[in-house]
Amino acid sequence: MRSGGKVALARTSDQLSGVTPATDFEAQEASAAAAGAAVKRAYVQRMFSDIAPRYDLLNRVLSMGIDRYWRRVALARVGWERNPDGTFLDLCAGTLDVAAALSARRGFSGHVLGADFAEPMLRAGRAKLTGRPITPVVADAQSLPVADGSLAGAIVAFGIRNVADLDACLREVHRALRPGARFVILEFSTPRVALVRAVYHAYFHHVLPRIGGLVSGHKTAYTYLPNSVKNFPETKRLAERMRAAGYADVQWTSLTFGIAACHVGTRPPTSDVGGRR
Ligand SMILES: C[S@@+](CC[C@H](N)C(=O)[O-])C[C@H]1O[C@@H](n2cnc3c(N)ncnc32)[C@H](O)[C@@H]1O
Repeated sequence: MRSGGKVALARTSDQLSGVTPATDFEAQEASAAAAGAAVKRAYVQRMFSDIAPRYDLLNRVLSMGIDRYWRRVALARVGWERNPDGTFLDLCAGTLDVAAALSARRGFSGHVLGADFAEPMLRAGRAKLTGRPITPVVADAQSLPVADGSLAGAIVAFGIRNVADLDACLREVHRALRPGARFVILEFSTPRVALVRAVYHAYFHHVLPRIGGLVSGHKTAYTYLPNSVKNFPETKRLAERMRAAGYADVQWTSLTFGIAACHVGTRPPTSDVGGRR
């Protein structure tokens, strides 16, 4: 993370009330990015850089605080207790909530790398670093600056859906894990029960884009979000993609009526470090 330079100041209320609607080009770019087109990487990096100063506030408001509970559930599955002094990866770390929570666990004596390719997100989380064994790293999830087989565990919360090439990212984390170490993926999913799905759809596609747009001042970030969830593989399919990338013992749990899901996979204990599997 580069030093110096201050985090951009939050927008004024005047600016917030004057969010202009997205142009056709902006709306099309966001929708293409959510569908996984070539523009995705650049769009996602720019969009998170833009909303970084308001990201934490928006998370708490839009999820009504449930996001904290989801992250706790996911962290409990990383298995850090088996290697409390190991190096762990918080992938797509954003403002470092997960890294901070892991490093604060009683008995944790290891190190957390918080990797994200949007530097303003890491900067917005700087206050959470104080006195903690966390190193923020500006890095792409498809090309991590860590040695083969060096991580005692990895976790990604609400990040992997945004990565341009999901399979490349799954393989890259697998490469970096020690044999026997786990990768935990916390991500939004689509509820299966029709009534819950209808309420969720109304909130996600109509309420959330309005509040998100108003508070963040960003024209497309909160239309991109529900569309990117819609285009992300459903739980069973994600588990298959994890297995295809080399993970063993892949399991998942649905959270809060299926609004989110937590997948866990293990790099097989017998896998060859330096080789693919
Ligand atoms: C929705 S935020 C999640 C942040 C954090 N994990 C949390 O739980 O709040 C998604 C993050 O993923 C990052 N991201 C998306 N694609 C990435 C990539 N290819 N490499 C690294 N970071 C990426 C974004 O910059 C953003 O900070």
